[in-house]
Amino acid sequence: MFIAANWKMNLDKVSISKFCDDLYNYKFSSKVEACIFPPMPYIDYLNNLIKDLPISIGGQNCHYKLFGAFTGEVSPKFLLDTGCEYVIIGHSERRTFNNESDNEIKLRAQSAINANLKVILCLGESLFNREKGYALEFIEKQLLECLPDDFRNVQVAYEPVWSIGTGKIPNVSDIKEMHDHIKKVVFKKTKKKVKVLYGGSVNVDNIGQILSVINVDGVLVGGSSLKVKDFLAIYSAAVKHLNNSI
Ligand code: 13P
Repeated sequence: MFIAANWKMNLDKVSISKFCDDLYNYKFSSKVEACIFPPMPYIDYLNNLIKDLPISIGGQNCHYKLFGAFTGEVSPKFLLDTGCEYVIIGHSERRTFNNESDNEIKLRAQSAINANLKVILCLGESLFNREKGYALEFIEKQLLECLPDDFRNVQVAYEPVWSIGTGKIPNVSDIKEMHDHIKKVVFKKTKKKVKVLYGGSVNVDNIGQILSVINVDGVLVGGSSLKVKDFLAIYSAAVKHLNNSI
């Protein structure tokens, strides 16, 4: 079980320091992995603050080249050097605001894998595609176009675009159907099993419902991961869920 906190472009040095104070009073479980994706300039700072805690760190994106004249970009090698274990690739905000195409996302994912980072590959349909009944078809195409050829250390995050930051989530049968579909498509193409996280308006109130879906392997949390109390409540719900299902 994986609980990932995507802070996006939020929290500054002072708030990160306060966040971490509370983490030291919490007892983490070996059964649930936690990972924080802070803003890039604070990766090193956060890494130092939580070096004694069982929490991994990841980058929110990386480039498809290791070095070069790419102003404002970050190399997967730099992420690794600053202590990152993970990287998010293909987040819908990157697709929308930075025009990242499926092909570019595939290159970025491959480059991250080659640099020995673990990839969280994000996929998600629009409300239009969901309402028209095209969601499965759309996600299958997006997945196949973004899937790196050398498929190692990849988890998929299913993040419906219409659910991100809106408070709306798909119903549990739609989440189950989509996660099943993603797992089948990946297996058909690579002969490998893949873990699928759910992302989009995950919060303290709906985490139990989301984790009750049998093929949800974890969650990618945005807004609700910015308050340490909520982040830890979501983490605790995952521990409780695992303990109840044994
Ligand atoms: P919210 O949890 O704020 O909807 O964001 C989800 C997300 O985009 C995580 O990557």
